[in-house]
Amino acid sequence: MDSTARRILVINGKGGCGKTTIATNLAVAYAHEGRSVALVDNDPQASSTYWCEQRDESLPPVSLIAAHEPPKMYQTQTFRNRLPPEVDRVIIDGHSNARDRDLEALLKQADVILVPLLPSSIDIRAGGRFITNLLTHRVFRNAPRPVGVIANRVQPNTETHAKLEHFLQCLDVPAVATFRDSPVYATAAEDGLGVMDMKDCRAARKENPAWRELTRWIDDQPKAGLSGRNLRMRPRRSAGTDGKRLDDHPLTA
Ligand SMILES: Nc1ncnc2c1ncn2[C@@H]1O[C@H](COP(=O)(O)OP(=O)(O)O)[C@@H](O)[C@H]1O
Ligand SMILES: [Mg+2]
Repeated sequence: MDSTARRILVINGKGGCGKTTIATNLAVAYAHEGRSVALVDNDPQASSTYWCEQRDESLPPVSLIAAHEPPKMYQTQTFRNRLPPEVDRVIIDGHSNARDRDLEALLKQADVILVPLLPSSIDIRAGGRFITNLLTHRVFRNAPRPVGVIANRVQPNTETHAKLEHFLQCLDVPAVATFRDSPVYATAAEDGLGVMDMKDCRAARKENPAWRELTRWIDDQPKAGLSGRNLRMRPRRSAGTDGKRLDDHPLTA
């Protein structure tokens, strides 16, 4: 993996906060920037896998690594998880119940960690606990890396929005993006799209600057040193990959 490549983990201990929505839309945003993108589905619910299966071949490609699936017979996990050689953005859709060794493996893989948060009291409380646990985790303390909170499903100028703003100001991690609560995200998910694909939709276009800002923030972060075991990933569906092996993608364990 070259020095400009990035592995981005999207994670929060709470289901429904927008991990898959952020991961898939981020993959699309990077694909539109001409990046070679792999989306790693770490969640047994397989939502990113389903999303990728719906995605039309004519759109900017996103390769899928179904890391939640057990390897097939005669296939090692390393072989199953090989990445296309040219990939320079790897987005990992982490699952809500990642604990202990699972969480450790995910953290070791990441250059940048994104934590989506919904603006409700319950989500803010749970998210605060998750972020504290993350920042004090042994793996994280040994090799700190950039963490950004994403305020998701925000309805501007509401009381819950104000609560979220206050909470984010108190946290020692930056709020790096805000996405609106918009039905366009559910519409996009149905068809394997990201809002960046939906050029004819006004609601989608309104969201585009926030996605561009997020890719810029990620790209500006220093890359963590490669750590952990060298594991490789193979795409389920990838445009033009010749299946070469990559020796420097420590992605899943
Ligand atoms: N910004 C948003 N606006 C509207 N709906 C959203 C937004 N983000 C996520 N959703 C919806 O919320 C639900 C849960 O999102 P999802 O990404 O599947 O969460 P997770 O992966 O964390 O479980 C989905 O139905 C999704 O379409
Ligand atoms: Mg999900």
